[in-house]
Amino acid sequence: MSPKTSPANETMLELSGVHKRFGGLHAVNDVSFKVPTGSIKALIGPNGAGKTTLFNLIAGNLPVSEGSIHFCGQSIEGQKTYEIARMGMARTFQNIKLFHGMSALECVMVGRHSRSRSGFFAGMLSLPTTWKEEKAIRARSMELLDLLGIADLADTEATSLAFGQQRAVEMARALALEPKLILLDEPAAGLNIYETAEVARLISAIRDMGITVLLVEHDMSLVMDISDEIVVLSFGSKLAEDTPANIQQNEEVIKIYLGEDETV
Ligand SMILES: Nc1ncnc2c1ncn2[C@@H]1O[C@H](COP(=O)(O)OP(=O)(O)OP(=O)(O)O)[C@@H](O)[C@H]1O
Ligand SMILES: [Mg+2]
Repeated sequence: MSPKTSPANETMLELSGVHKRFGGLHAVNDVSFKVPTGSIKALIGPNGAGKTTLFNLIAGNLPVSEGSIHFCGQSIEGQKTYEIARMGMARTFQNIKLFHGMSALECVMVGRHSRSRSGFFAGMLSLPTTWKEEKAIRARSMELLDLLGIADLADTEATSLAFGQQRAVEMARALALEPKLILLDEPAAGLNIYETAEVARLISAIRDMGITVLLVEHDMSLVMDISDEIVVLSFGSKLAEDTPANIQQNEEVIKIYLGEDETV
């Protein structure tokens, strides 16, 4: 029997020569990188660099034009978004997507139901066989709201919450999937410095729970503080991949990105 590779040496996500074309626009151009299991990796770059497009390719919302993406050693080619989610990948969106008419708790429970045995609709119909499961889902969802610091808002309609709180609900919903990998698209966008510090603490806490994180973020101090490694995209191409300390010293990166405006 061959010895098991330690988690630290394993790769959670691997992109190889990934391209995405929208008609004549080459939005992602030959991008390759790995996300090591248990790490926080950040994807940065100016507006329009292709970061969200890359997330859409990884999560299966868009097909790649060329190249391959492997999640937990398995190709995601041809897989539907819900199949990829069931494999253990969750995401939050740059533009918050919460359901109208649902409380914060219900929004999180929907995320949890999508991985439960009896499923969301059986849960909605309160079939007797699902009661026990429903109770467990409710309890776990409350725990996640508590982790995100918004347990007291569980019964408030999610879309009526303040922006930062809605982001917290989205994150709780993604965590409810019990993912192995979470993709966070600009989790600190629109937040003040206190809320941003809280997001930094949360992302570190998520990693400490054993969840690998791939993060898109414009807030450089947040990225530099919490990331193990950073990939820099520019006009769809990978410009650099390195540790935060080295990225901060990289002349090309400073020129195209960091030099422009530190908080862009
Ligand atoms: N579905 C689409 N159809 C056509 N073009 C698209 C589509 N999605 C993205 N694009 C284009 O691809 C390029 C990359 O966009 P993307 O949203 O990935 O950038 P980004 O790095 O996330 O930018 P931002 O920091 O502003 O969020 C842009 O020129 C954008 O207009
Ligand atoms: Mg984007």
